[in-house]
Amino acid sequence: MFDVKFKIEELKAQIRHHNEKYYQDEKPEISDAEYDKLMIELQKLETENPELLTADSPTQKVGAKPLEKFEKVRHAKPMLSLGNAFSIEDVSDFLTRAKKFLGIDDAENTEVFCEPKIDGLSFTARYENGKLVLAATRGDGEEGENVTQNISTIHSLPKNLKRNFPQILEVRGEIYLSHKEFERINKERLEEGDEVFANPRNAASGSIRQLDSEITKSRRLQYFVYGWGEVSEEKWNSQSEAIEYFKESGFTINERSKLRRNISEIEEYYKNLYELRPDLDYDIDGLVYKINSIKLQERLGFVARAPRWAIAHKFPAEQGKTKIEDITIQVGRTGALTPVAELTPINIGGVLVKRATLHNRDEIERKDIRIGDTVVLQRAGDVIPQVVSVDLEKRTDSKEFTFPDKCPVCSSPAVRENDDAVTRCSGGISCAAQAVEYLKHFISRDAFDIEGLGKKQVEKFYEKEILREPADIFTLEERNNEIHLEKWEGYGETSVTKLFASINTRRKIGVDKFIYSLGIRHIGQENAKLLAKNYISFQEFFESAKKINDIAFAEYNEMLNIDGLGEKIIRSVALFFSNEKHIKIVENLLRQIEVEDFKKSENSDSELAGKSIIFTGTLAKLTRAEAKAMAEKAGAKVVSAISSKTDYLIAGEDAGSKLKKATQLEIKIISEDEFLTLIS
Ligand code: IVH
Repeated sequence: MFDVKFKIEELKAQIRHHNEKYYQDEKPEISDAEYDKLMIELQKLETENPELLTADSPTQKVGAKPLEKFEKVRHAKPMLSLGNAFSIEDVSDFLTRAKKFLGIDDAENTEVFCEPKIDGLSFTARYENGKLVLAATRGDGEEGENVTQNISTIHSLPKNLKRNFPQILEVRGEIYLSHKEFERINKERLEEGDEVFANPRNAASGSIRQLDSEITKSRRLQYFVYGWGEVSEEKWNSQSEAIEYFKESGFTINERSKLRRNISEIEEYYKNLYELRPDLDYDIDGLVYKINSIKLQERLGFVARAPRWAIAHKFPAEQGKTKIEDITIQVGRTGALTPVAELTPINIGGVLVKRATLHNRDEIERKDIRIGDTVVLQRAGDVIPQVVSVDLEKRTDSKEFTFPDKCPVCSSPAVRENDDAVTRCSGGISCAAQAVEYLKHFISRDAFDIEGLGKKQVEKFYEKEILREPADIFTLEERNNEIHLEKWEGYGETSVTKLFASINTRRKIGVDKFIYSLGIRHIGQENAKLLAKNYISFQEFFESAKKINDIAFAEYNEMLNIDGLGEKIIRSVALFFSNEKHIKIVENLLRQIEVEDFKKSENSDSELAGKSIIFTGTLAKLTRAEAKAMAEKAGAKVVSAISSKTDYLIAGEDAGSKLKKATQLEIKIISEDEFLTLIS
């Protein structure tokens, strides 16, 4: 007896711990299946020893207490949970039990409404006189959190009901995130260096529990309504009628929900959805079967935490444990270095998993993942398998992983910027993993914009090894006697002639576009233009850029002086041009094309256009930054060190040594007012 009591206490403590992890911290440590096992064991022991069942047992409650930060609200009717079935036999037993309870012959058909079980978080929304007045999370089933403001950001949830509504109507359902949205959010979080969400459910939960509802709004949550709480007047006689009513009232319902009559029809429904599951854009962790008639539901009532008229048919577990054999690095098409766990293959939810993403260096450190570790794996959102945690008890001779400082594909330095969670290969255009992406950038509309050469062709040309670097585009024609493009599928004489003609029209390009086309990190169109404006010719820029990897060089300071370009950008330019392969690629290109000097078109009227100028002393009417910006807008190049090449010195109050030097060098000296006249 002592043993049983002890075991029950132990199970209760374990379940409470996991409830907290799941509901409050949103970081489950064990799989749903493992959790269910604990719960079933506890339930079994309590049933066998009813004298040991206490009111505070987790079997009598749903989930954990709500978080402190939101106002608590007591549900007008408790929000209950569901019993679980893990096989079709369990479902059949459920039906038999229900029919027996009702005195219905087991052989008779009973309508069962079948619904997908959405793996999100449940909510209740209360409408009084047709107006949404309160929305809450489930919390512990009795009390939830008032999240009205956040739930109101869900566009598709009606704020006002149109017609035929009861005075009080509480709808209940599940809030979830689509896989697409989940991936978008995690991608953004990774880029911002935030911890990623383990699965869409956690992400949805985290989004609803935001104190700032603007964040909730940006997460594009969705919902399905599948039930109700308090209603002043029930306008339906069955679950299926209720769902129809909700639909007509403007709520989103799951269109895959269907009425079935017996166990074989239910089994067919299960099989169908199980197969559909990977194609759905949201997570479902099983199905829910509900005896359709409300009259029968009322007769059946509830036991402890769940109705006797409904059951959840769970899909097989989606978590499992396996060993990390090795950690490798994958180089993405944009240069991101992603650590990947190479696993002892394991079957999770019907899919053989051999690899799992470890996201980035920080994730490995945060989770303390080492080669040789046994880890809990999860197939999040049916998409990419992830490592949830390390089983420390199984750790024996694991080996720490050292993140590489070189790209495994091209050996260029792997760099991580301060505010970036991602480590990137700096090889860019010269890295085979990134080359296709770079080539696509090169031919894109704002870069070389070659008619007849689209992304698809670039991919194909790369695959066929006739395109490796940008210069190859311009040698296509002379190599065509070996390639014979006109004989390729989808090409003919005319289209090939046209393609070569349009390539030839691009043998001249403006310096700003050319700089942009090189795909230097952080050099978008605007920064490319700033560089072009400042250096005027590509040669000038090229020579400087090759020298800026040493901050002691004047070239470095000169580039840093360009208004609008910060350290981060300059470092990126320096990194690009410190790579020998990049220099080669640029030189090869320069042999094929002509880069035209920057045209000071809009500013060419200004007398300062193309002039090198320097400010000194205190200006009375303008700040230094303002003056500099104005000068640059007029096409002037603002320098910080005076030389014989400087055209003008603008002298403010208390001008010192520079003024003296300018006089010596016979540089034109003008006042602030004269500068303003010249500019206008
Ligand atoms: S009915 C009294 N229907 O599953 C019956 N629940 O494990 C209450 N869920 O708390 C629930 N999809 O969060 C129901 N179609 C569905 C569901 C569903 C997801 C969730 C809900 C519930 C939990 C029970």
